[in-house]
Amino acid sequence: MSQVLEHWAARAEAALERFLPLADGPAARLEEAMRYACLGGGKRLRAALVYASGDMLGAPLDDLDRPAAAIEMIHAYSLVHDDLPAMDDDDLRRGKPTCHKVYGEAGAILAGDALQSLAFEILASAPPSTGAEAALAMVRTLAEASGARGMAGGQALDLEAVGARLDVDALATMHGLKTGALIRAAVRLGALCAHADEPTLAQLDSYGRSLGFAFQIVDDILDEVMDSDTLGKTGGVDRARDKPTYTTMLGVDAARETVDRLHRDALESLAAIRHNTAVMSQIADFVANRRF
Ligand code: IPE
Ligand code: IPE
Ligand code: MG
Ligand code: MG
Ligand code: MG
Repeated sequence: MSQVLEHWAARAEAALERFLPLADGPAARLEEAMRYACLGGGKRLRAALVYASGDMLGAPLDDLDRPAAAIEMIHAYSLVHDDLPAMDDDDLRRGKPTCHKVYGEAGAILAGDALQSLAFEILASAPPSTGAEAALAMVRTLAEASGARGMAGGQALDLEAVGARLDVDALATMHGLKTGALIRAAVRLGALCAHADEPTLAQLDSYGRSLGFAFQIVDDILDEVMDSDTLGKTGGVDRARDKPTYTTMLGVDAARETVDRLHRDALESLAAIRHNTAVMSQIADFVANRRF
């Protein structure tokens, strides 16, 4: 993993450790499942984007811990539910048995529900240095990105599409929602925490849009070409389950060309930003070229 990502991943892990319950409440097993789903794994790309965009624009790192942990909680919840038998029915996640394999289906559903609530609780209790207006804007951004016009909507389209053939526009809509929305939101959360102006928010949004779309196409490519050990999740499942993806519909080469174009678009969006975008561009390079 790139050094930049490793650095932010370590900080995100510490933030998650700080904001997750200690598994000592009345529903201790539920809290244990939340910790299992969140800690000790994952690339922490979304947290890294919060830190990188916020840091670039001058937000204090201590203020970025909350949005970084919150978005990783929403992401972890989306993975726990994505792996359920009613959805993708997967046994392996981040190199470990999936949450429902350890805590049962009801336990995994509830862990996802509680992670979602906790994400908004920690965003809403931002310190005075963040400011109430920025905190409210972050709550709204994360809510929109998680809901029916964001991740949950994309997951609905993904499940409706099993066994169907989708054209490129429908694939782009599905990817933009199920994965793109949270990645765009990550970039925006950091910028909101830094009280960025509208032109910067718009330019970063264009970067986040290209990056999020590229990220899911690479996920589709890796599903096709990588082994389960490297991925930490079972490979080859999209084709086996008749899921329309960039690779199953268009093939690996066409998918790769689309990723390269989106990578260039993301870097172009950064070029218009009058700050030091070096780290944001390293993250784009990682997303386009990652092998896990
Ligand atoms: C996997 O996301 C699910 C998708 C949205 C493609 P990541 O590949 O970011 O998963 P982790 O967090 O690194 O495990
Ligand atoms: C998952 O897409 C997107 C979300 C969890 C929102 P996938 O189903 O392709 O993710 P993996 O491959 O299981 O990580
Ligand atoms: Mg899925
Ligand atoms: Mg899946
Ligand atoms: Mg996948």
